[in-house]
Amino acid sequence: MPSERTRDLLALSATCDADFNPAASEIVVERAMGAVIVDTEGRELIDLSDIIANVGHCHPRQVEALQQALTQMMVGKSGLTNPPRAQLAERMVDLTPDNLSKVYFVTGGGEAVDWSIRIARRATGKHEILSFWGGVYGRTYANISLNGLMRRRRQFGPVMPGVLHAPYPYCYRCPFGKKLETCDFFCIDFLDAIVNHASTGDIAALIIEPYQGVGGLIFPPDGYLPRLQAWAEANDIVFILDEIQSSFGRTGQMFALEWENLRPDMLCVGKGMGSGISIAALLAEDWLWDALDPGELGGGNGGNPLACTSALVVIDILQDEGIVEHTRAIGAYLLERFRKLQAQYSAIIGDVRGKGLALALEFVRDPESKEPYPEIVRHISRASYERGVYIGSRGHILDVRPPLVISQEQAQYAADVIESELAEAVSAG
Ligand SMILES: Cc1ncc(COP(=O)(O)O)c(C=O)c1O
Repeated sequence: MPSERTRDLLALSATCDADFNPAASEIVVERAMGAVIVDTEGRELIDLSDIIANVGHCHPRQVEALQQALTQMMVGKSGLTNPPRAQLAERMVDLTPDNLSKVYFVTGGGEAVDWSIRIARRATGKHEILSFWGGVYGRTYANISLNGLMRRRRQFGPVMPGVLHAPYPYCYRCPFGKKLETCDFFCIDFLDAIVNHASTGDIAALIIEPYQGVGGLIFPPDGYLPRLQAWAEANDIVFILDEIQSSFGRTGQMFALEWENLRPDMLCVGKGMGSGISIAALLAEDWLWDALDPGELGGGNGGNPLACTSALVVIDILQDEGIVEHTRAIGAYLLERFRKLQAQYSAIIGDVRGKGLALALEFVRDPESKEPYPEIVRHISRASYERGVYIGSRGHILDVRPPLVISQEQAQYAADVIESELAEAVSAG
C-alpha cells in the first residue's frame, strides 16, 4: 500500500492534471540521479524508460553549469543573442554535416519539425510532404498531420492537406510481405508509385526518423536511408531527418546520421539535447534559410541562455566522458543478452532490434501469426518494478532506453531481471 503522501499526489494529479493517466501511472517520481529514478516511497529504480536524460539524471557537471547560469540571466531577449547561444550555434554547426550551415533554436521537437516543413515549402515553392507510416513527429497540428499513427491524429478534424504517407521499412512486419534478403528495397521503388498515383507532382520534402521511437523502436535495414536520400535527391525533394529522439549519443553516435554518413538537407534535433532542460533545434542548408525574410524566425524562449548552457554542457559531457562510446559498448552487451533470450524463447520473442541504447524486444503470441502479446510485457514490467527496474513500455514491445550513463553492473542487473521475470511468466503459462 503506497504512503498517504503518494496517494495524495496521485489523487491531486488525477483531479487536476489533464495529461495524467491514473491507469498507467502508479508511482510519483521524486528524485533522479544517473540512471536511477527514486519514487515517493523511496524506491530506487533503474530507469529503462528514458529518451531525454542522455547524460544521466542530474549530472553534477550539468547541475553546476546550470546553477552558474542561473545567476547570470534566465531570460533570453528576443532578437538578441547571448554568450551560450552564440557558442552553442557554433558547436551545432561544427558537429553536424558541413552542408548544414546554420541552426535555429526552439523549445520543443515538434516546433522544429513544424518549421522544417514550412521552410521546405517556402524554399521549394512546392507543397506536398511525404511522411511515413508509424512516424511520430510531435503534437502540433502540422505534426499530427505528418504522424503515421492514426491514434496520434484521430478526431481533431481535418488535418493539414498535402501530406502523403509511405510505408516505413518495418522489415519484421514488411507491409509488402517481402524478405530483406531478396527485396532490394522494394519499398523505395514503391515511392515512385506513390508519386505517380497519390501526388499532384508537387512534393516539397520528405521527413523520416532514423529509427521510429514512439512507433515501436523500428530500425530501417542498413542501406535503406542512404538509398532514400539518393531517391529524394533524384526527385528534387528536400530530405528532412528527424533526429529528435535519436541524437546526442542515443544510438551510439552523436547523431544517428553518422552510422551511414547521411547528409540531410534539414536536421531536427531535441530531447537529449538539453538532457532535461527544454531545447530543440533545426539545422538546414543556406538556400533553405535564404527563403525566409529577416525576422520571420524568432520566438519567446528559443535560444534561452539556460537551455543553451544545458545543451553546451551536455555536448561537453558526452565528449569528455566518452559516453557515446560507452553507449555503443553497453548497447552491444544488452543486444547480445536479448538475442540470446530470443533464441531461447523464439516462440514469443518475434524480434530483437536496436542500436546503442535504443533497444526493443517485440513479443508475439505465435511466431507465424505474429499476433502481438502485450500481457507478457505488462507482466515483466510490473515484476521488474518490484525488483528495482523501471520499464515504461506499454503494448507488446518492451523497449530498453536507459540514460546513456547506465553502468555495466546496472545494465547486467536489469537484463538479469528481465530474463528471470520472463522465465517466470513463461513457466506460469
Ligand atoms: C521523432 C520525434 N520527433 C518529434 C517529436 C516531438 O518532440 P517534442 O515532444 O519535444 O515536441 C518526438 C516526440 O516524441 C519524436 O519522437
